[in-house]
This record gives sequence, C-alpha cells and structure tokens, in this order.
Amino acid sequence: MRLPTLKWTGRALELIDQTLLPGELRIIKCERPPDVHAAIRRLAVRGAPALGVAAAYGVVLAAADGAGRSVEKLRRLFTEAAAYLETARPTAVNLSWAVRRMAAVAAEEAGTAEGLYERVEAEAKAIEEEDRQANRRLGHFGAALLRDGDAVLTHCNAGALATVDYGTALGVIYAAVEAGKRISVFVDETRPLLQGARLTAWELTQAGIPATLICDNMAAAVMARGEVDCCLVGADRIAANGDTANKIGTLNVALLARPFRVPFYVAAPLSTVDLNAQTGADIPIEERADDEVTTFAGCRTAPLGVEAFNPAFDVTPGRLIDAVVTEAGVARPPFAVSLARLKGEPHRPAV
Ligand code: MRU
Repeated sequence: MRLPTLKWTGRALELIDQTLLPGELRIIKCERPPDVHAAIRRLAVRGAPALGVAAAYGVVLAAADGAGRSVEKLRRLFTEAAAYLETARPTAVNLSWAVRRMAAVAAEEAGTAEGLYERVEAEAKAIEEEDRQANRRLGHFGAALLRDGDAVLTHCNAGALATVDYGTALGVIYAAVEAGKRISVFVDETRPLLQGARLTAWELTQAGIPATLICDNMAAAVMARGEVDCCLVGADRIAANGDTANKIGTLNVALLARPFRVPFYVAAPLSTVDLNAQTGADIPIEERADDEVTTFAGCRTAPLGVEAFNPAFDVTPGRLIDAVVTEAGVARPPFAVSLARLKGEPHRPAV
C-alpha cells in the first residue's frame, strides 16, 4: 500500500518529506502553522493541490495555541494563520484559494469555540476530499485523450505526491492504464530540483508504468525522432484565457510540441483555474534561492561569484495548449469561454 502524501491525524498533519525521495521515505509531523509554512517553503510538501490541502490543515493547527480560549480568540488565531500561510508560496493559486476558504468559514457565526473548531476542521477535510474526487474524475476525462500505445512526455511531478491522491497529469495516465491502454512516459528530470527524476520516475516505477528519464534538454531530440505522442503536464495557476503557470521548463516543452505537431495538454482541477487572473501576466512567479541553480544534489557546480536566476515557474500561453482537462470535462480553445463555462461562471471579456 502506498503511503498517503499527507494525513490529518486530528492533532497533527503528517507529510511525506518529498525533499528526501526517492532515497528515503520519511514522514514529518507538523503541529503548528509555522511547521506547515516551513514544509511548504522548503518543498517538503509541494504541487498545487497538495499545497492547498496542507495549508488548510495548517490553519486548523492554529487551534493548538487557543485551547480553552474564547470563540473570538480562536477566530483570530485561524484568521491570522490563514494570512500567514498564504505567504508561503505565491504561484500555485490552490494555496490562497484554500486558506481564503478556511478564513471565510472561520469568520462565520459560531456559538462556541468547540463549534468553530469543528467547522474549520470540517472545511479542511472537505477540501481534501474534493481534491481526491476531482483527480479521479479528471483522470477519467483525460484518459479519453490517450490512445493505446501512446508515449506521453511529462514535466515536473503532477502525480499522487502533488495532490491528496492519484494526481492530475499522472492521474490521467493512471486512468488510461486502468482502462487497459498501454502507456509509456518520457519523464523530464526537471532541473533545478529534479521533481521529474526524483518523484515522477519514482511514482511511475512503483505503479509499473514504463518510464524513460530524460534530461530537460533532450525533449526536442525525442520529439524529433517521432517518439512522443502527446505532452501532458499539471498546472499551478491557469488564467482566464488559458495561459498556464507550471514548473519552469514547461514553456520549453510547449514551444517544442507545436512545430513537431505533438498535442500539448494540461490537467488540473478547477481550483487551479483563477478567473481573476485575466492572462499569464497577472500570475505572480516565485523566484527561489540561487543555490538551487549553482549546486546539484548538494554539490557546488558553478564558480563562486556567479549570479543565478531561479524562477520556479514559467507561463505557457494558452495558444500553445490544445486542451485543459478538469474534473468537469475537457476545455478546448477559446479557453476564455470554455474555462468560464466549466467553472460555472459567466465569461468576462477582458477590458
Ligand atoms: O515547485 P513545485 O514542485 O511545487 O511545482 C509543482 C508543479 O509545477 C506541478 O506541475 C503543479 O503544481 C501541478 S501538481 C498537480
């Protein structure tokens, strides 16, 4: 049995420390909001949907400092924790979406501190369960895009480790395999932090799905050889027009796919679609520390004194994306219309 990516025990949030995979499978315990904040910052837990769920439970953990206090005091602790956890990482909208949902529930009328706690905890559990179900449903819709024998190229990790369970892009692959299709996967290693090599390759080999690891700069070569049938990635935030922020290097793959006539698909729950962001220009891009680039597996690979640029995400324009797979169905261009329809919101033309 696979260990869950995250587990709420009622008193603590237990997480697989993803920075140690695949070498070591260690569970860490978060007992206070700062533990969750730190785990998110250092990517012990990562991937847009998993960030949302972890942060939601991080808000619940604020109650640990409010035992025996009044309902107002507990409400303030929840609200402060939500605002604090939102600062952990900026790009994946699932994080702010989840903590704002938590803050809204914490603001509702509640007679007692116990009653408020129960509601807030129930909301985190609901966010967790919704993600579990969304992945299964989007996997089902996305599987129809894959044919028996297809080779899929993926970037970063959008699997069970990036969600509560199953995954988004990898969920589509798992669903296709469960439907009896033979699927193989080219896995981009995904520098600088190797989510592809360390996490996606680990998940796929555990699932018995044929996986071939390539360095990021080999994607063109495998496409040129005609060996890739489609590209399939997750997302951290999808703007109203379909522009999609995902792990740095995703844009390279999308730019290659078009001239090689390889379809490029994104798989993400609707919680990742941010209709308040009109285009990719409205998506904040996290920049991380230089040493992630100047070192490899802890060893320095660049001379002292050199500067590094380390954006954690890039934005793929919607015009390079053939379909966005969600739990409500598959969106096709024009995304400004199809995504709003799937979200159940009116299309707001850009001003
Ligand atoms: O920096 P990370 O590892 O959190 O980046 C993760 C990604 O870019 C994933 O592709 C994305 O969050 C989708 S996860 C289902």
